[in-house]
Amino acid sequence: ADDTAYIDSVVDRVEESLDDSLLPVDIFNDDRIFAAEMQRIFTKTWVFLGHESEIPNKGDFVMRRIGTDRVILSRDSKGIIRVLNNHCRHRGTEVCHEDRGNTAVFKCPYHGWAYKNDGDWAGAPQMNDAYGEKLDPREWGLLRAPKVESLFGFIFASLSEDVPPLREYLGDAVWAFEAVVNLHPDGMEVLAQPEVFTVKADWKNGAENFAGDAYHVGTTHYSNTLSGFIPGLNNVSVVAHGYDFGNGNSFIGHSIADLIAPQFTMWGYPPEVRDLFDLDRLDDVQREMIENRPPTIGTFFPNFSYLRFPQPANPGEMPIPFTNIRVWQPVAPGVMELWTWEFEYKVAPQAYKDKAYLAGQYGFGSGGVFEQDDTVVWEGIAKAGRSAWAREAGMRLHFRQKRTGPDPEWQGPGKYYPSIYGEYLQEAFYRRWVDAMRSHNQTMKAETKAADLAVREAAVVAAAAAAVEDEG
Ligand code: FES
Ligand code: FE
Repeated sequence: ADDTAYIDSVVDRVEESLDDSLLPVDIFNDDRIFAAEMQRIFTKTWVFLGHESEIPNKGDFVMRRIGTDRVILSRDSKGIIRVLNNHCRHRGTEVCHEDRGNTAVFKCPYHGWAYKNDGDWAGAPQMNDAYGEKLDPREWGLLRAPKVESLFGFIFASLSEDVPPLREYLGDAVWAFEAVVNLHPDGMEVLAQPEVFTVKADWKNGAENFAGDAYHVGTTHYSNTLSGFIPGLNNVSVVAHGYDFGNGNSFIGHSIADLIAPQFTMWGYPPEVRDLFDLDRLDDVQREMIENRPPTIGTFFPNFSYLRFPQPANPGEMPIPFTNIRVWQPVAPGVMELWTWEFEYKVAPQAYKDKAYLAGQYGFGSGGVFEQDDTVVWEGIAKAGRSAWAREAGMRLHFRQKRTGPDPEWQGPGKYYPSIYGEYLQEAFYRRWVDAMRSHNQTMKAETKAADLAVREAAVVAAAAAAVEDEG
């Protein structure tokens, strides 16, 4: 009960900080908040797990996470994509210890129970002596995520039966995502398996940054301009725009042509790739958007992010756009795994894919020049989250600094902000966080009420039974 009161008060204070008070830094490094986030957010929302091109064949699987649980993302023998909890139904140990592979059956290393690649129970050693009759394959199968859906090949899952369908959940953000990843009927593909590395920072630091922080680039990443790697980074926030699609889903856009050179429209794709795109797939507003101020960075609540920006594959070369998809994977309070994948359009020439992979890794691989900058500053925030002094003081977010408001002329869905200043998008992210942390509370309260009722009913029944006995 103490924990609940503390968590509720922190959530209230986060909401107040969106207006004009101080943010409790506890949210970036606290056992109770972390546990509540796992329960109230990560088991209740859609989370990204991987791309269809990672498991193209029947029997292919890769290991992923939902919250702190390891899950198997499997294409079963019928070709259906399944998301299976990795804990054996017998004594609960982890069934699969590989990061990826192809198999018809997962066999538990403890007593040898076996599961098909669709999760069904398949058998056990010394079946007849140990268990007599055959167990029900469904009842004893691995736990399955009840919801699995794919959007332009990107696979999301939810542990909640009650989530709206993925497209509904993402809402207007699908419109922008389409303009990013659906420019050719064959779609995009992963260029390599993801990189995974541990960062001693909270998952929200990355998610919030990608939701709308174009302002940090000129400072955090300025060494990349000083070294001559990418010119003009100190002016990136000047040519940045914001797209707010509600529910904590947002994109930053950049007028890259104004930053680098006039030919850098449409993310700066060179003609050999750009000419392959089928732009008739898009509406007029989408086409104008990607031509002049394409979405370059974005977050879907809670922890899926996107990045496409032109960068040289090697110092001194012409910048080319790469596409990086990432997950801010919580693993413990103040600790996340950073998962990053490099993507390219399937139809792009192989030479371009190779270069785009290098460009992406150069900036945003685990040793990437931008990645290093960001993770250092985020680790500092997690340290503040543990500090009694910083907790007492709270943190000034400087929300509502210079508010210019959304563009009333915007024809697309959501809201379009011509200026990134004002931190509207980060504010929207935290608003969604507050809502998610609360909506679970409402469900809990409803359940508690029902449970109270059940207790009272049981008491009435017991009293009645006692009365009958007395009479007898
Ligand atoms: Fe898996 Fe016993 S724990 S077979
Ligand atoms: Fe950054």
